[in-house]
Amino acid sequence: MGRYDLKALQEDLKNELKNGITKDSVDRVKHLMSQYKSYPKDWEGKEFWSDEKYTRTLLDKGNGLYNLMILCWNKNQKSPIHNHANSHCFMKTLKGEVYEEMYKHPDVTSCGCKMEKIADNVYKVNDVAHITDADGLHRVGNRSHVEGAVTLHLYFQPFSTCRKYEDNTGRYTEVAMKFDQYFSDQFSFI
Ligand code: SIN
Repeated sequence: MGRYDLKALQEDLKNELKNGITKDSVDRVKHLMSQYKSYPKDWEGKEFWSDEKYTRTLLDKGNGLYNLMILCWNKNQKSPIHNHANSHCFMKTLKGEVYEEMYKHPDVTSCGCKMEKIADNVYKVNDVAHITDADGLHRVGNRSHVEGAVTLHLYFQPFSTCRKYEDNTGRYTEVAMKFDQYFSDQFSFI
C-alpha cells in the first residue's frame, strides 16, 4: 500500500464528517490526523510566509461543513488569545514545534483582570490537539528563533469571526478571521 498522503487524509476527513460531528467522530478525526505523517512535499507549495504575522491558507472547504487550512508561523509569531466560536478546533503540527497556552474564560463580573493561564502545551511534528470553547481559550505560537513552524487546522463548523482577548484585562473584541490564500476547489468562501 502507498503512503497515506495529505490528499487521502482530506478524502477521509470529508467522508468522516459528511453527516456532522459527534464525540466518536472527534476521536476518529484525531486518529486520522495522527495517521497522516507529515511529508513536506505534500504541503510545501502551499506555504505562505510573512514577516508581519502568521498566515492562513485554506486547503478545503469541506462541503461547507468545516475548513481545513495550513498556518505558517514565522519565528516568534503567535496568535492572540481567542475563542473558537463554538466550533471544534483540531490542530496537527506539520513542521517545527508550536506552543499552546490555554486560558480560563474571564469572569464577566471581574472585567479588568489579567487572563488566567490554565495549561502550557508543546506540540512537536505529528502531534495532534483538539480544543473547544468548553475547554477554554487559547493562543498558539512558535518560540523558535531559528525556524518557522507549520500547522494543519480543521475547524468544524467554519467560522469567520472570533473573540480576541486582551492578555491584561480579559476584554475582548470580535475580529474577522481572514485567509491569506486559497487552494480550495470550492470557490465561494464561508
Ligand atoms: C490558533 O491559534 O489556533 C490559530 C488561530 C487561527 O485559526 O487563525
